[in-house]
Amino acid sequence: MAQNPYSIRGGEVGRSRLRLLSEVMREGTDPLLDRFCMPGMRCLDLGSGGGDVATSMAARVGDNGSVLGVDLDAAKVAMATAEAHALGLRNVAYEAANVNEWSPSERFDLVYARFLLSHLPSRWELLKRAKEWLAPGGVLLLEDIDFRGHRSHPHSLELDTTVAWYEQVVAKRGGNAWLGPELPSLLREAGLANVGISAWQPVALHGGIKDLIVVTMEAISQAIVEDGLATEDELRRVVERLRSIAADPTTLMGGPTVFQAWGWNDEEA
Ligand SMILES: C[S@@+](CC[C@H](N)C(=O)[O-])C[C@H]1O[C@@H](n2cnc3c(N)ncnc32)[C@H](O)[C@@H]1O
Repeated sequence: MAQNPYSIRGGEVGRSRLRLLSEVMREGTDPLLDRFCMPGMRCLDLGSGGGDVATSMAARVGDNGSVLGVDLDAAKVAMATAEAHALGLRNVAYEAANVNEWSPSERFDLVYARFLLSHLPSRWELLKRAKEWLAPGGVLLLEDIDFRGHRSHPHSLELDTTVAWYEQVVAKRGGNAWLGPELPSLLREAGLANVGISAWQPVALHGGIKDLIVVTMEAISQAIVEDGLATEDELRRVVERLRSIAADPTTLMGGPTVFQAWGWNDEEA
């Protein structure tokens, strides 16, 4: 059977994981959009998943702006499209496509990707192409992880194991779970100007990132077993232990460090 290039389970289960992910990441993404996403902008969201960020962008750009989301997973694209219709959003649309083989028919003021590049082998190539999709003065805005940021108190061997499994599953498919700190150099090498960076980390005593760590572990469990990193029994034991740590409000868990980086297309109009 051909290996799926994307390591995390997709479809409806994947969509509900992304809803949780968006709730956790709102703390970092909302201020970023407040800073970069303005009324009237034409925005492109690469690897848009369930459309949570595209929906937030649509509210910011308003009726004179537009948002296009592109994702490989046709099931998520269908759900995002249905949600946009249900919300009465007329300024957002989605396309199912592999961004490595896709090109837009227009240029954008803002091209954005959250947690996509760390899964792709062809990161620099995509950024180089995405720079060409920017209108003069447009901004390329990225959010991505460094999985080494994970921590727990008290220390948990199961969390360490989970982090190592995730990193290996992603690496086997050509991704890089430590990508975050590389984002500024990738942007510079792709020709973007005035590159900037910030970072933050989600932490919790209950809910939030604690639940997301468990759900992510479950979402990559098929890949972990397929890759021979653990047996189903070993996996079950680790997930059960993580679940009990996540449910205990006296323990702290922190997720990946989330890097936010941006660079501008400084071409004159
Ligand atoms: C971790 S999810 C993030 C989704 C969304 N950006 C968010 O933050 O809520 C990564 C998304 O990238 C999509 N993806 C992975 N490889 C892709 C590719 N080559 N082309 C388009 N989408 C891709 C997956 O289907 C998934 O929805």
